[in-house]
Amino acid sequence: MREMLSIMLRKEGFEVLLAGSRGTAADVLARGPVDMVITDVKLPDGDGIEILRHVKAAAPETVVLVMTAFGSTQTAVAALKLGAHDYLTKPFDVDELKIVVRGAFEKRQLEEENLLLKAEFHTRYGLDRIIGVSSGMAAVFDIVRSVASTNSTALITGESGTGKELVAKAIHALSPRRDAPFVSVNCGALTDSLLESELFGHVKGAFTDAHQNKKGLFEAAHRGTLFLDEVGETPPAMQVKLLRALQDKKIRRVGGTDEVEVDVRVVAATNRELAELVRERRLREDLFYRLNVIPIHIPPLRERREDIALLAETFLERFSAEMGKGVTKISSEAMARLLHYAWPGNVRELENVIERAVALETSPAVLVERLPESLQTLRAPSAGAELSEGFSLDEHLLSIERGLVQQALVRAEGDRALAARLLGITPRSLRYLMSKHGGEQPA
Ligand SMILES: Nc1ncnc2c1ncn2[C@@H]1O[C@H](COP(=O)(O)OP(=O)(O)OP(=O)(O)O)[C@@H](O)[C@H]1O
Ligand SMILES: [Mg+2]
Repeated sequence: MREMLSIMLRKEGFEVLLAGSRGTAADVLARGPVDMVITDVKLPDGDGIEILRHVKAAAPETVVLVMTAFGSTQTAVAALKLGAHDYLTKPFDVDELKIVVRGAFEKRQLEEENLLLKAEFHTRYGLDRIIGVSSGMAAVFDIVRSVASTNSTALITGESGTGKELVAKAIHALSPRRDAPFVSVNCGALTDSLLESELFGHVKGAFTDAHQNKKGLFEAAHRGTLFLDEVGETPPAMQVKLLRALQDKKIRRVGGTDEVEVDVRVVAATNRELAELVRERRLREDLFYRLNVIPIHIPPLRERREDIALLAETFLERFSAEMGKGVTKISSEAMARLLHYAWPGNVRELENVIERAVALETSPAVLVERLPESLQTLRAPSAGAELSEGFSLDEHLLSIERGLVQQALVRAEGDRALAARLLGITPRSLRYLMSKHGGEQPA
């Protein structure tokens, strides 16, 4: 039966992996994702329902078809309840199977297209999702708001974990293209030929595995936004083709002859210094200029420390709710460490630190002990100081001043007049202190 089905499905253009037992199936599935699993219920070493459970837990989008013996309706119902797409009662004929398999794939494709973030998009990825009270982030918000409605290419730069993808999604969510797909591609993750077929698609027979015509991501993003992530890593041979597609707004599928017009807005991101890659001749200069029409730079977290407390509290609220924990506060000692740390992994690192702390915490407040080593051992600035070798009164006073300014801004939720009142200084002095500590320009 297995051999017969595989011959038939291969003829239909599918790539088929075979497993003769539950154990082998587990091995096959562990090697990588599959689109569809067809399984019998009775297996030599167990139960097909277990495979169904396993697949649905590990990769819920995988379509599962279960073959049941004639008259075992109960098993079929159980399978459907566990998320099987459909069941086939043995004996079935080949045409019946073809119809079910095709139907399942079409449904899956539709779901994917819808899932391509339509309905949820605005609420999930508007600017509200991006937290920041610093002037650095205010500048980012301003650019996003003003460029979202245009079709200009934006290039988002910033260190790893600063929120580049979040900003790309916000641009899409605020743009007139918001109801069309946001399609993301990592330019550094694929080899030349794979990336080309991924971006531009291919026609049947273009290469050995090209059993069917396939749309590329440019076409999938038609009328929407194409996000070129890690664009600095694009393999050299692909850079020319990418440039041509961006300029002509036309693509040609691999192995194809016709040109297809595509209407996409391109947003690119990189954590590399692109100008440097150009100097090293690893990035074509013309491609760089084509991408860098609207540069958006997201400053690293250490250069906008005013954002730390608000981010930390937002993450705390979210993880505490998600995990059903009653952790409602961050102890002031722990907060002092968070404000003082250098955050090489930026917002992503802060998010992870808070998630971990909430998971471990048993008291209502996050304590220093729940922070990672590197933060625990950090000497937090406090009024009491250790007068040892290397102590500097000036630096110590500065760090206290910085901590208080940040606390006031957080408590005032970014309202600078209020923050100044909390500190007992004039708004003008506050502006001065912010420029002194946050690396910001005085207004
Ligand atoms: N300003 C922010 N407000 C809320 N969450 C943020 C913010 N910036 C980043 N995050 C969160 O931090 C994590 C990392 O963000 P994102 O993936 O956008 O970073 P990135 O710049 O694309 O990083 P990389 O260069 O490593 O791909 C995400 O979970 C994101 O939701
Ligand atoms: Mg990213």
